[in-house]
Amino acid sequence: MSSDRKRRLDIDGAGSGSKKHSGEGGDPRLGEMPGATRMNPHSGLPFSPRYFELFRKRVQLPVWEYQEKFLDLLNRHQSICLVGETGSGKTTQIPQWCMDFSKRMGKKKVACTQPRRVAAMSVSQRVAEELDVSLGQEVGYSIRFEDCSGPRTLLKYMTDGMLLREAMSDPMLENYQVILLDEAHERTLATDILMGVLKTVVTHRKDLKLVIMSATLDAGKFQAYFDNAPLMNVPGRTHPVEIFYTPEPERDYLEAAIRTVVQIHMCEETEGDILLFLTGQEEIEEACKRLKREVDNLGPEVGDMKCIPLYSTLPPQPAAAHLRAGARQEEQRRHRQEDCGIDEHSRDLADHRRRGVRD
Ligand SMILES: Nc1ncnc2c1ncn2[C@@H]1O[C@H](COP(=O)(O)OP(=O)(O)OP(=O)(O)O)[C@@H](O)[C@H]1O
Ligand SMILES: [Mg+2]
Repeated sequence: MSSDRKRRLDIDGAGSGSKKHSGEGGDPRLGEMPGATRMNPHSGLPFSPRYFELFRKRVQLPVWEYQEKFLDLLNRHQSICLVGETGSGKTTQIPQWCMDFSKRMGKKKVACTQPRRVAAMSVSQRVAEELDVSLGQEVGYSIRFEDCSGPRTLLKYMTDGMLLREAMSDPMLENYQVILLDEAHERTLATDILMGVLKTVVTHRKDLKLVIMSATLDAGKFQAYFDNAPLMNVPGRTHPVEIFYTPEPERDYLEAAIRTVVQIHMCEETEGDILLFLTGQEEIEEACKRLKREVDNLGPEVGDMKCIPLYSTLPPQPAAAHLRAGARQEEQRRHRQEDCGIDEHSRDLADHRRRGVRD
């Protein structure tokens, strides 16, 4: 970030400089939209308007330019490494292409692993929506103690631990045509062990395809491990970010953060949610209470604010529901991402305005 983009944030005064996002650019590539006149091949029903709405967004994702290249690599190689910046469409789009590939090859499924349960649940929900099918039918998920998939399921998002369990009873993973190990850069124990297991499986099952996906460029080790697997690199399109600094260190950063959120809520004219990163559950709950109180005290003219806490010890169902919540909302999270235990990269950040306060 160059210094001229840095600004000071007057968190005491009203109406500080506000940054308008350019929003999603580019023309919707409607010409590429399949099924404008067709039925949904999965459900046999006509596509819903929501399908077309999501499709317009999907084709703008950076990975879409690489679809042909990816399918070509998938045809020619058994293992592929794919690196793409966060939000480029790895988790939601690539498994759908693999699903089409798998359908052409036979009746086997596609598995996409996630290090975290919440990610497996929320991303499968999103992909089911994108494909215009009910969750648990063609697209499902499998996490410990919960299997939301069925005989029709072609694409299954699952925790890496669940695929490892399957490998115990079915060592050649015969149910699968394509296996995607997502978030490989996180190097979770289960994903790392899976790599070892899959290295053996791919030598015995020449029909099985393996895709290692990572958000960091450091994929050299994965490539080397899988016999110099080719690398596909998808550059991202990050949104412009403007950083505002507090003029002086804040004594009470929680208080300052709350004040800033209220200020944004009152002064920002454009729609959009606010993410507030905090250090832990207690602080998050406290901030929610105080924000609600402050906004209530300001009266109805400042508008409603729905404040949603999010931290790793929330049970998976409410946490996933929070991720899907579409209303103007505050999501409050641990400041230290590595401690938060919820997949940073798999949540819906699409319409959220990211703002930070630094002390
Ligand atoms: N649950 C969701 N609700 C709304 N939009 C979503 C959801 N999940 C994904 N998206 C949209 O799809 C885009 C691609 O998301 P995806 O998870 O496929 O990216 P990714 O490349 O896997 O990112 P990461 O490296 O962070 O995992 C996001 O930028 C977002 O716009
Ligand atoms: Mg992802």
